[in-house]
Amino acid sequence: MTNSRIIRAAIVGCGSYGAEHAKFLSGFAGAKLHAVADLDGTRAEDFRQKYGAAYATTDVARIWADPEIDAVWICTQHHTHAPLAEAAAAAGKNFFLEKPLALTLADCDRIVAAVERGGVIASSGFKLRFFPAVIAAKAFLAKPTLTTAHVIDDHWASEFWANDPIQGGGNVLSQGCHITDTVLHLHPTGPVRVYAAGGNRHHPTRDIVDVAAITLTFADGAVANISVGDVGVPPHASKFALQQSDGAKSFSLYNRLNSLMKREDKKITELPAWPEEGAAVIDGPFITAVAEGRPSPCSIQSARRTSAVVLAAIESIRTGRVVDLTAAPYAAAMIC
Ligand SMILES: NC(=O)c1ccc[n+]([C@@H]2O[C@H](COP(=O)([O-])OP(=O)(O)OC[C@H]3O[C@@H](n4cnc5c(N)ncnc54)[C@H](O)[C@@H]3O)[C@@H](O)[C@H]2O)c1
Repeated sequence: MTNSRIIRAAIVGCGSYGAEHAKFLSGFAGAKLHAVADLDGTRAEDFRQKYGAAYATTDVARIWADPEIDAVWICTQHHTHAPLAEAAAAAGKNFFLEKPLALTLADCDRIVAAVERGGVIASSGFKLRFFPAVIAAKAFLAKPTLTTAHVIDDHWASEFWANDPIQGGGNVLSQGCHITDTVLHLHPTGPVRVYAAGGNRHHPTRDIVDVAAITLTFADGAVANISVGDVGVPPHASKFALQQSDGAKSFSLYNRLNSLMKREDKKITELPAWPEEGAAVIDGPFITAVAEGRPSPCSIQSARRTSAVVLAAIESIRTGRVVDLTAAPYAAAMIC
């Protein structure tokens, strides 16, 4: 790897969200987009031309072998995350891996083990933690008693790869992880138990859970309700919303978590909305961490915990039982 403070970047997966990272990387002074790879050569070549990479390839091994590359953005279907992350770490490449970490606990464990073995800096894609309104909310209310949150999207086509049980896992695993991660991030202690109701309401051809009402209990006794589904965006609250109270203060995050309303001593303050910056909010901190050799801003271990909580919620839906997160197989994933 080069010692330059300009991070030489590669993207694996030249699809819709790879484009968000490519847009940022091609315009950011601290990085240079060096290579792009996709199984589909036309997509890779389109990226090369549009975002100015030195080369495009369908051979991902070329990325791992290229000594010029400091960090790789992995933006592919979820079932490929573990093998690609393992290959990146084995090649000594720092990597940014899109959410969710993976679709099984075993794959999450593979990724964590590969990062620890390889000693690389690895970030997960939980960008909502870095939204200015979320940061301001966390500073305002440090010890919540009660959280209510949701990610409720418009209907996804059943044929969409993210609804494939192997490639995507369905809406609850694919997008439910985003709001679950934000809830975990905004609680000072870890989750200890989960109970959930839900099932498959709108995608009968797919063996997935597409709607979930999840109840979490934290070690300090705080509780959270999380609703997830591709059942129609709520017009007022928006696709992403989150509210917390601590007995005295409260806040509402809405407008896709770009707006914050705070309430204290019965006085309400509404802050001006922040513009949504997408991947930029997390790519910048990751690049800085790689350039300065500092810890990941969004650790792989914390992303494993998030996936483990969503998987436990799905287990609860399927069995009708409360799941103890302090016992096997989830306990190890709660450490982050
Ligand atoms: N953070 C966010 O807000 C956000 C939003 C959308 C998607 N995502 C995530 O981004 C990732 C990609 O989603 P997308 O919507 O861009 O998918 P997409 O289908 O648009 O693109 C995925 C690309 O990866 C390529 N690919 C698949 N396997 C590959 C491999 N082994 N080697 C090289 N290329 C490979 C495919 O050919 C495709 O071009 C997923 O993890 C998804 O959940 C994150």
